[in-house]
Amino acid sequence: MAEVDLETVTKVYPGDIKAVNNLSLTIRDKEFLVLVGPSGCGKSTTLRMVAGLESITAGVIRIDGRVVNDVPPRDRDVAMVLQNYALYPHMTAYRNLAFGLQLRGVPRDEIDRRICQVASMLGIADLLDRKPRALSGGQRQRVALGRAIVRRPKVFLFDEPLSNLDAGLRAEMRAELRKLHLKLATTTIYVTHDQEEAMTLGERVAVMKDGVVQQCAGPLEVYERPANRFVAGFIGTPSMNFLEGRVFVEDGHLYFDEGSRKLRLPGRFKAALGDRVGQRLVLGLRPENISISAEGRFAGEENTLDATLSVVELLGDRMDLHVFTPAHEQLVCRVDARRGLTNGMRLTLHLDMHRVHVFEPGAEGVNIGLSCAGEQASAA
Ligand SMILES: Nc1ncnc2c1ncn2[C@@H]1O[C@H](COP(=O)(O)OP(=O)(O)OP(=O)(O)O)[C@@H](O)[C@H]1O
Ligand SMILES: [Mg+2]
Repeated sequence: MAEVDLETVTKVYPGDIKAVNNLSLTIRDKEFLVLVGPSGCGKSTTLRMVAGLESITAGVIRIDGRVVNDVPPRDRDVAMVLQNYALYPHMTAYRNLAFGLQLRGVPRDEIDRRICQVASMLGIADLLDRKPRALSGGQRQRVALGRAIVRRPKVFLFDEPLSNLDAGLRAEMRAELRKLHLKLATTTIYVTHDQEEAMTLGERVAVMKDGVVQQCAGPLEVYERPANRFVAGFIGTPSMNFLEGRVFVEDGHLYFDEGSRKLRLPGRFKAALGDRVGQRLVLGLRPENISISAEGRFAGEENTLDATLSVVELLGDRMDLHVFTPAHEQLVCRVDARRGLTNGMRLTLHLDMHRVHVFEPGAEGVNIGLSCAGEQASAA
């Protein structure tokens, strides 16, 4: 059992900088949890407090049931891997791997056995007599990972360990980390600012902003049922579209007035929005839930918007279209790649209203119809 429990943890740096604000989070035994959020939101600070490298201003941290607030880092049985490997430059890869174990008094043949095992697991067995400067970035990162693994700690703490690697290597290492986790089943907290990395690696994803966890749930859950507008906009690329407008009722149906057109909200919103008629709210729709036509295919249909094409980004089989409507400056649609689209072209957009979210106004506006959105997502 190596559960990590953070209970109302706060970190205030000198100068009254509140880096982490009343954070409560339990990382389950053997779980791979990703902490994700924009730069400066408090991810590294959180990790460093778990590692014991940073004092805690308020709150309690427990590892494996033991309060560790005042336990020095070396006695916490955690191993940290950072972005800048931090290998000893004058030592070979082997000695880098062995060093921490020697300090802990592990017998020599046991050290050798563990290093052999981990080196073959990580594909670095042939590199053990090289010094870091004779290794590529990816190889160095493997050694740094190996150094954490040979210690067999209760908890791994990763702080953006892949961000120095190029895109291809990063994707490869990501897949390897997943396999490693399946094999080792060690409780892991992984920090990244990259939402894609968070989604692909995390069993659960904790989305942070301004020192506060906005939502912690499985990757699909945060994608399909974002708790608020910040999470909705942060998870997923391109970002969700947000349209400000008002809700009104006509002939017993709920509509969202986008400014240039009325969009009909599914009946599932009735309970949540019934008493919000006339209020300014925000409609959220992902780029992939908008279809386009340049030939009038949606003529006369509900839930369409007239738009003008401003930028085309070809991605291969799909393309991102940046468009504007009379009421909104920027919307992004992700559609199948096609020929014949030119800037300035008039398009009709069709919005899949079964996929929309409605948020309260503001950067962290709550997702209002969440309970009914869930019924829709699980029924789909
Ligand atoms: N030693 C320090 N003294 C004062 N303020 C600090 C210190 N370390 C971090 N901060 C501040 O605390 C906040 C959180 O920093 P932290 O390093 O935890 O962010 P982060 O989420 O890891 O960001 P990044 O993605 O850029 O690494 C930031 O506003 C940062 O400027
Ligand atoms: Mg950081």
